[in-house]
Amino acid sequence: MEAVIEAKDLRREYVTRRGVLRRTKRVVKAVDGISFHVERGEIFGLLGQNGAGKTTTIKMLTTLLAPTSGVCRVLGRNTFGEEKQIRSRINFIFGGEFGVYRRLSARDNLRYFAHLYLLEPEVFEPRIGQLLEMVSLADRADDLAETYSKGMIQRLQIARGLINDPEILFMDEPTVGLDPVGARMLRDIIRRLKEDGRTVLLTTHYLPEAEELCDRMVIVNAGKIVAGGTPAEIRGSHESLEEAYLSLVGAGEAATPA
Ligand SMILES: Nc1ncnc2c1ncn2[C@@H]1O[C@H](COP(=O)(O)OP(=O)(O)OP(=O)(O)O)[C@@H](O)[C@H]1O
Ligand SMILES: [Mg+2]
Repeated sequence: MEAVIEAKDLRREYVTRRGVLRRTKRVVKAVDGISFHVERGEIFGLLGQNGAGKTTTIKMLTTLLAPTSGVCRVLGRNTFGEEKQIRSRINFIFGGEFGVYRRLSARDNLRYFAHLYLLEPEVFEPRIGQLLEMVSLADRADDLAETYSKGMIQRLQIARGLINDPEILFMDEPTVGLDPVGARMLRDIIRRLKEDGRTVLLTTHYLPEAEELCDRMVIVNAGKIVAGGTPAEIRGSHESLEEAYLSLVGAGEAATPA
């Protein structure tokens, strides 16, 4: 087996300053010493409460943010220092944001991003056709993206994330804000990525989705890993993954004793 993502004792602090006259410095340990690896071809989940450190972790893995310390390697390279060798081979989608141009059609959006990757038309034109089919946008491909629904935009984002034929796709909350049908469609697409041999690392707040999709996952709480393994391993003797999750992230403390 080949580990394509490796984090070892990975840390990231944010220093924020407040006040004008009496400046106070606050250090947030957003990612506080996490270790995990992802093997080629896996769908791997990063789960945790708001503020747990998921997006910060993804930003370090995708070369967008420098780690404070620790090992952060993707495809055998350091994400900080060797980012050029990594960037052409990965891609990422941040679900909550608009990563597409609303004044362009789906097809023109994909052409634009293909140019950024310096792809030749012989390569990108057929690929764009295939991607639009895959995300079921072929029949609306030449309408402006501003006329699309949220689900269509999210699917266009996936197509955008595949334009450079990445070996690893990072997805931060890919199904956020989608209706059940749209979310299912997206999960089917994610499963197809795995069938194609790609590796997927995703975050989600929807536990049944994580259970359905992920081969393995880690649960992060306040910057630290509190559990890791297959969904069945994490569920353990709990009735559901959600029960296990709630007991791990400490929500159980709020329960009234019998
Ligand atoms: N640019 C920043 N400056 C200061 N603090 C930050 C910054 N970005 C994130 N943080 C803090 O780091 C911590 C982790 O944030 P992060 O965005 O990684 O969490 P998350 O797990 O992605 O949460 P969510 O589920 O809400 O997306 C939080 O306490 C957050 O307030
Ligand atoms: Mg986040």
